[in-house]
Amino acid sequence: MNLSPDPLKPLKNQKALVTGANSGIGEACAMALGAAGADVVVNYYSNPEEAARVVDCIEGSGSKAIACRADVSREEEVEGMFAEMLKQFGTIDILVNNAGLQRDAPFHEMTLEQWNTVLATNLTGQFLCARAAVREFLRRGVVPEISSAAGKIICMSSVHEVIPWGGHVNYAASKGGVMLLMKSMAQELAPKKIRVNSIAPGAIKTPINRAAWDTPAAEAELLKLIPEGRVGLPEDIARTAIWLASDASDYVTGTTLFVDGGMTLYPGFATGG
Ligand code: BGC
Repeated sequence: MNLSPDPLKPLKNQKALVTGANSGIGEACAMALGAAGADVVVNYYSNPEEAARVVDCIEGSGSKAIACRADVSREEEVEGMFAEMLKQFGTIDILVNNAGLQRDAPFHEMTLEQWNTVLATNLTGQFLCARAAVREFLRRGVVPEISSAAGKIICMSSVHEVIPWGGHVNYAASKGGVMLLMKSMAQELAPKKIRVNSIAPGAIKTPINRAAWDTPAAEAELLKLIPEGRVGLPEDIARTAIWLASDASDYVTGTTLFVDGGMTLYPGFATGG
């Protein structure tokens, strides 16, 4: 293990792929990986101009970046994206399985399409991308000058992998699924030196939950659920992703890091119960 990597570029010479990297948490992770020295594939599904902006920003920090359009729920598109990455970058060291969406509805009104759309992107998408990454990790194995792991996978979960969420049962079910997808992969792949972990963000200011924080009244309601008293920022998650991607977390696998300002601490019990 390289115990004294360049502190400014701990991921130098590594190749990363971030899904859903054209906005929100994915964008922040892609930029932070680039700043940490990794070359980055910026996956997106819609809004190519946003992906191009993220690519420019990463290139500005001195790393290579390419934008790659793929619907992560479609096997052939995922396979095509990985083929393109291997062609352009040669390999993959880090996968940030970030792409996710919400299709909210009261339970009795939820359509099968809303259910399927959320499960397809949030859970099947993570499976398809992880499988493609693992195949390359296994083919290549450990390259000690690059990293002590053969590969690192970071699954973007949510506090809703453990907090039930009425009105969002498709989303909560997908994140509960991500939890055991991640842990089962971690258990199976640890002997191959592949580390798999999750980050469970709480409420982070991104487009997915804008309505929950973009008026003072909504933000005040939301803050009742956050003991630290502030809504999180994408950078809070990106910093965690860099640590999980680096050899600093070499002995960490199969765990979920909650980055939520205390949202999972049952805040109502601070004064109730
Ligand atoms: C959801 C957000 C929500 C947060 C906390 C996230 O996983 O995507 O919409 O604000 O969890 O409830």
